[in-house]
This record gives sequence, C-alpha cells and structure tokens, in this order.
Amino acid sequence: MPIDPWSSEEVDYTKLSSFGIEDFDAKGLPNPAPLFKRGIVFGQRDFWRIKEVIKQKKKKKFAVLTGLMPSGKMHFGHKMVIDQVLYFQSLGGEVFLAVADLEAYATRNVPLEKSGKVAISEYIKNYLALGLDPKTEFYPQSRRKEVLDLAFAMGRSVTLSEANAIYGFGNSTSLSHIYTPLIQVGDILHVQLEEHGGPRPTLVPVGIDQDPHIRLTRDLAARNRMFNIQDDAIFVRGSEEEIDPRMDRLIGALNLKKREYKENRKYRALYLKKKVTNLEKRVADLESELGGYGFYPPSSTYHRHMHGLTGGKMSSSKPDSAIFLTDSPKEARKKVMRCKTGGAVSVEEQRKDGGNPDVCCVYELLLYHMVKSDEELADIYNSCRSGERLCGHCKKDCADRLEIFLRELEDKRRGISDKDIMVNP
Ligand code: TRP
Ligand code: SF4
Repeated sequence: MPIDPWSSEEVDYTKLSSFGIEDFDAKGLPNPAPLFKRGIVFGQRDFWRIKEVIKQKKKKKFAVLTGLMPSGKMHFGHKMVIDQVLYFQSLGGEVFLAVADLEAYATRNVPLEKSGKVAISEYIKNYLALGLDPKTEFYPQSRRKEVLDLAFAMGRSVTLSEANAIYGFGNSTSLSHIYTPLIQVGDILHVQLEEHGGPRPTLVPVGIDQDPHIRLTRDLAARNRMFNIQDDAIFVRGSEEEIDPRMDRLIGALNLKKREYKENRKYRALYLKKKVTNLEKRVADLESELGGYGFYPPSSTYHRHMHGLTGGKMSSSKPDSAIFLTDSPKEARKKVMRCKTGGAVSVEEQRKDGGNPDVCCVYELLLYHMVKSDEELADIYNSCRSGERLCGHCKKDCADRLEIFLRELEDKRRGISDKDIMVNP
C-alpha cells in the first residue's frame, strides 16, 4: 500500500526502508535538539548534503522549507516540525514556510480567506512564540506566482498514471486535489530559483506521511536538469541538437584536460577519471548560466507522529485526542489526567510488574516535548519500568510541566500582534 498524505490513518513505520528512506543519524550535528537523539526524527533522504553545509558553517548556504496546513488548531503533534526548523535556523539555514491554503481549499474545503486568518492566529503566532525568527519568510501558496508557475512547469514531466501510482487517486478525486502535489513541488523547489537564493541544498522537514510528495519532487527536480550526476558520470539531457553544445560547455566549465575524462556522446555521458572539487555546485552554476534550473535534489527529514491521547492519531478534529498550544493549563491538565497510559490495572500490580512507558501517552508527551534532559528522561523511563513511579503522580508531574510551558507560551503570544506578522506574497 502506498502512503496516503491525506489520510488520517497511521503510517506503518516498519516498511519504510523499502521506499528508500534511510535512518537518521545525528552524529556530526552540533548540539542536536532532543528530538534528533530520541528517535522522533527517525528517517531522512540525502541528509548528508545538509550535514556537509552545516560543517562548513556558511550562512544561508542551505534553505529550509516546510509547510503548514491552515485547518484546525495547532497541537503538540504539529510542534515537532517547528522544533526542527528552529534548530536548523539556528545553524544558519534560510527558512521558508508555505501556508498551504490552496491544498486546504482543494482537499479540506477551507476558503482561502479563512486559511489566511487561521494560519496567522493559530500557527504563525505560535511559531514565533516558540522562538522562530520574526524575519522568517511566510507566504501563502495562492499568492506566490513563482510557486504556481513552477508547479505548472513541473507538471509537464509527470503523467496521470505516474501520479496514480504514487497517490492512488480514484475516479472521484477532483482535478484541483490532483494538482496539489504539484503545488507542493513548486513550494519545495522555488527556493532554488535565482530570485529566492538560487540552486542550493534544501531541507524539507516533514511528517512521514508527506514522503510521497518528497519523492515526486526529487524525481521532477532530476527530470528537469540539464545535467544529472551519477557517481563518476554526468549525463547530459536535452533534445538531439542540445547535447553537443551542452557537453562542450560542461567540459569547459569543469576545466577538464583530455586525459581527465572520457565521453560517450551517443549515451550522452561524460565519465570523469579524476575527482572534481565542488562538482555539484559547478555543474548547477553552469546550468543556471545556460538558462536551466540547476536544482539540487531536496533533502528531507521525517518525524514520527504522536499518538492521540485517547488512542489513534492525534488530530485537531478530535479535541480530546490532542493538547492544543492555546489550551489553558487547566484544560491541558484535564486531558492529561484522562489520557491513555501504560499503567497496570491496579497500584499493587504496577508496583510489582511496573508500567509500560512505550505505549503510554503521558510518557510520549514527556519524551517529545516536556523533558529536555536525557538523564532525567531515562530516570523516568526506568522508574516506570521498575514500578517505582506510579501513573497518578506521573500524570500530575506531566501536567505541571505543561502548565509552565503553556503559561510561558501564552505570555510570548501576547507580545506578538497579528500586525507584526509578515506574510509575503
Ligand atoms: N502538505 C503539507 C501538509 O499536509 C503542507 C505543505 C504544503 C508542505 N507545502 C509544503 C509541507 C511544502 C512541506 C513542504 O501538512
Ligand atoms: Fe506512563 Fe508514567 Fe504511568 Fe509509566 S508511570 S505508565 S510513564 S503514566
């Protein structure tokens, strides 16, 4: 079964490597945020590219783009992506946030005007309160022409049957809905257009349900290149007449001497016999010069979804399943007190056999959001397992932490007026 990005079902994490998603490894990242070390961010595509730029410590050398669905209210399950964005912004990534108003319109019936308001009051305000730089670029899909133009242009390289193989659209899916993945492709790739920073590594942090869009984007980026690099070979793309001049320019741009390469024009291939420094960048720059896109394949990181407090997936449409960032501490406490734990049926039994934090919503809240220190978290885990820690106390502890967090956030939100929020076309 393919992953359905619009479904409310949970994704089966055990089958992902067959789609080409690789394990996430925080090694080499400076002061990784807790979610990178705790298996919350668990998968990636081409993240090495981002690690490499981070190592070089050059500002604005990579872009970070993700999107928000402006329907419903922001809950803790939406926070992980922002925790990631905050971290990469602190390392010099240039952040772009797409308000997916066209997607919400096509797939959830949310009128555009309402999307704009919800995006600001529910999401962007919370993002800023969580610490996102106020200069971060927010834009609505419906109003950024470059995104829409790119969506249209990229759509030429994908057929309906390919789209169906990825998404399994049915005969009753509207054409607007079918078009939304292309808009997301436009979102992701437009940050590599000259006017938005040019070709460069781009990171897209998302929930795992978004991977079909990432795959499509990576395919379309490659299909729209003039040059594709594969190990020691560079393949030249284009019509019959374009191949020779492009090949000549490529050899010139890489300063290759006769003995340093072999070419096979019939296969449109150039084989490198020596390592060329900065190969990817030089080829992308040449492509820009020749009027092409020069897109780097976007990298991605994937986080796990939180479970709903009442079982199932956490969702804004089930208010008891989620703690919202605008919940009062009292409401949040009530939800924690009622939520599903990994405790035993009786105190006696729990003292004897211990609890199971791995299936517990309280523990999940602590792990994902409330406990910064790894040692403290390990203590909680172990004392739950041993039966020392009991659920009543544990819930209260979690609610106390939430209370502090929510109060601070509310204070910060109060300091931000809707008018201070910049949303650019
Ligand atoms: N489809 C995403 C969601 O449902 C929102 C989104 C739109 C997005 N454009 C994007 C996510 C670009 C990542 C990158 O949440
Ligand atoms: Fe969950 Fe805490 Fe109970 Fe353990 S003690 S099962 S972590 S609520």
